Amino acid sequence: MTSTPSREVPQDLQDGTVAARLLAWFDQHGRHDLPWQRGITPYRVWVSEIMLQQTQVGTVIPYFERFMTRFPGVRALADAPIDDVLHHWTGLGYYARARNLHRAAQKVRDEHAGVFPDTLDSLCALPGVGRSTAGAILSIACGVRAPILDGNVKRVLTRLCAIEGDTSRGATLEELWRIAESLMPQKRCAHYTQAIMDLGATLCTRSRPACVLCPLAASCIARAEGSPTRYPSRKQTRRIPERHCQMLVIRNPAGEFLLEQRPPAGIWGGLWSFPEIDSATDAATACDRIAGEPAASLHHGTAFRHTFSHFHLDVSPVHIRVAGLGRHVLEDQRLAWYKPGQRALGLAAPVKKLIDALCPPETAHEP
Ligand code: ADE
Repeated sequence: MTSTPSREVPQDLQDGTVAARLLAWFDQHGRHDLPWQRGITPYRVWVSEIMLQQTQVGTVIPYFERFMTRFPGVRALADAPIDDVLHHWTGLGYYARARNLHRAAQKVRDEHAGVFPDTLDSLCALPGVGRSTAGAILSIACGVRAPILDGNVKRVLTRLCAIEGDTSRGATLEELWRIAESLMPQKRCAHYTQAIMDLGATLCTRSRPACVLCPLAASCIARAEGSPTRYPSRKQTRRIPERHCQMLVIRNPAGEFLLEQRPPAGIWGGLWSFPEIDSATDAATACDRIAGEPAASLHHGTAFRHTFSHFHLDVSPVHIRVAGLGRHVLEDQRLAWYKPGQRALGLAAPVKKLIDALCPPETAHEP
């Protein structure tokens, strides 16, 4: 990967007019009514930023609202059982974010007397909080002049200044931080942060930037070059490996599903999932071994693919009915019969999908 040698930030980008134009655009066209923009506190901004890290605004909104109702402050989150936190995260994916959020809340409770820290270093010491998230919390919630550099902002800045190279590391990343720092105005820091995010999300989009509407078009080097989508430089795409498994969808006579809690580390760490076996293992034998109950009936469902950032998981569900409650289930804390809608558990996304397909949520409370 090449990266250009470090350059000075162009003079015309340092005279404050970029920020002024961006802020004027934001006043007219930015997003002003997102739920985390109401009743702004460092806690609410932090939770929203973590949810928004890998997830679109539209998806995040209902999760954010439910999360705030259940965990209205950092102490409520710190004191909650992790299962409850994961339950409120079910479907958002990237569950390490939820586990880090919980650990960070406990750190704020135990080491900062329950008061959210307000310096870059102390924020960056919280699990799951990097420099950009810390910048967003400080600028949006505290009005501090701390820049951010998330994916949207990297795209805006690489185009504005025609920066080549891998934006995730080395000299390129340092250069982007320098530019982000120098463009940030002295005042209206909260609005500026929201404005540059909004510009990246709504106009300076990945494949179809709306340059004619952009308040920064006159300063944008990529636009002058005629090919804004050349930036940011493409990362080399790697082929990700495929793995296969069978998921045992075991149901008892009460219609409950057998779930197994996954080990704390690794894929779906701490979440509840159907027992998983490899493709070569006999499902009926595995049912007996895991639940302590023989399969009364068994049929193979339709396979589907679940993609993680680093591999594809091809899942073959095996639907099994058992006649009893399983010798092992009561003895093993990591096994549980789950009646949909009756217990708050963090479920792996494909497990929730399978359960919802078999037991649509509106009927989940019926016997
Ligand atoms: N993406 C990351 N942070 C955001 C925010 N505060 N508003 C909208 N989208 C975002």
